[in-house]
Amino acid sequence: METRYLSCSDEDLREAAGIIARGGLAAFPTETVYGLGGNALDPEAARRIYAAKGRPSDNPLIVHISDISQVESIAAEFPENAKKLAEAIWPGPMTIVLPKKDIVPDETTGGLKTVAIRFPADEAAQKLISYAGVPIAAPSANLSGRPSPTRWEHVREDLDGRCDAIIMGQPCVGGIESTVVDMTGELPQILRPGLITPQRIEAVLGLPCSYDPAVLAKPSEGLIPKAPGMKYKHYAPKADMTLYRGGRDTVARRMEADAEALRAEGKKTAVLVYGTGREAAERLFADLREKDDEGTDAILAAALDEADPVAFSVMNRMLKSAGYRITEVHDMRIAVASDHGGYELKEIIKKHLLERGFEVLDLGTNSTESVDYPIYGEKCGRAVASGEAERGVVCCGTGIGISIAANKVKGVRAAVVTNDYMAEYCKLHNDANIIAFGGRVISPEDALRFTDIWLDTEFEGGRHQRRVDMLNALG
Ligand code: RB5
Repeated sequence: METRYLSCSDEDLREAAGIIARGGLAAFPTETVYGLGGNALDPEAARRIYAAKGRPSDNPLIVHISDISQVESIAAEFPENAKKLAEAIWPGPMTIVLPKKDIVPDETTGGLKTVAIRFPADEAAQKLISYAGVPIAAPSANLSGRPSPTRWEHVREDLDGRCDAIIMGQPCVGGIESTVVDMTGELPQILRPGLITPQRIEAVLGLPCSYDPAVLAKPSEGLIPKAPGMKYKHYAPKADMTLYRGGRDTVARRMEADAEALRAEGKKTAVLVYGTGREAAERLFADLREKDDEGTDAILAAALDEADPVAFSVMNRMLKSAGYRITEVHDMRIAVASDHGGYELKEIIKKHLLERGFEVLDLGTNSTESVDYPIYGEKCGRAVASGEAERGVVCCGTGIGISIAANKVKGVRAAVVTNDYMAEYCKLHNDANIIAFGGRVISPEDALRFTDIWLDTEFEGGRHQRRVDMLNALG
């Protein structure tokens, strides 16, 4: 089909409204993202929307209205609290879920007995809905799975030839989809986080507002969504996206290092860092599309601080964009060192530590050419004793020589480990700050397991602190 491009003039909006009223589809701007609109009361229009987006039909559509009084025509109940919330926040980026009237077809609600309703703030959207004379069902105007469109050009990219019209409105100011709040129960519950925060809802209603458990958990593949945006992979760019979570500086260093490594492999790599949740909301989807347009292979993005509710909402999208791939970056630097006898094992451990998100300081060696282990044991010992690294892993043929060397440095407590118990207790009781392995006496699998046990065990302190103090005083 040929897609018509319309402006926000009254005449064009009436034209688009006519298309919708006659059963066609028109994409339009809202303050959150662009929507792909069809008559919400027409099952055929809903089917067309699903087909245009390539979206599975179990995903409910949001029904847009242009006046609060229209709620009663599509919802079977409009409880006092829902009304209070609507009056306080609408028009705005919030969708309210209520029991549906029969007039709303199952095709619009994804088979649910509830209907998701929103009164958008965008003036062009309001006019379009009122000119259409019917509520407008509209999901985001993108191909399913792709980042939501925040500019009409994004809609053109995905839906040109797949809908009857696209209204060329302003770029969206909100940038992420509306908050969806379920008002069918005793208390409000957020099914999809957005710019309207639970705190704002609590302030309006004087009632606690929680997130649906599915918002907080990683959704399962088979989840039947109660609201749009609850599924596993969503809002996804074509590039492989990875999030990095941890301290700001360590994350920045780690992302740069990883980006460099990916570029060295010939992969076009982009790094995304946002200052605030609002900034991220406004830019995220446009940035993801821009990176796709540039032919980016990998996107590395710094996770947002989820303590801020708006940042939390954007992280909900970012996690889905990244298919939940997240690298936890620890604020801990671990020095590694070896002689020729431990070189291969050191490389395996180094890779593992990087995968676990630690920063690694590699002090050598970097070949199997024969070297003297005291040099490398001392190097690692000094790095740990000076605080350049918080912990160290040393490897030689047996683990013995290099640990003796490390222990010569004051403040070092290096322990050779050959089983799980030693890995646990060298930390629990001795607070070992260096662990030593023999590359010729233990398997790589064992070494990695011992490393994890040692890293994940907490020093017990108490009477053991006195002994550690005595160790530190020696020499
Ligand atoms: C080197 O062959 C070997 O002596 C060394 O790796 C280590 O086992 C020392 O204790």
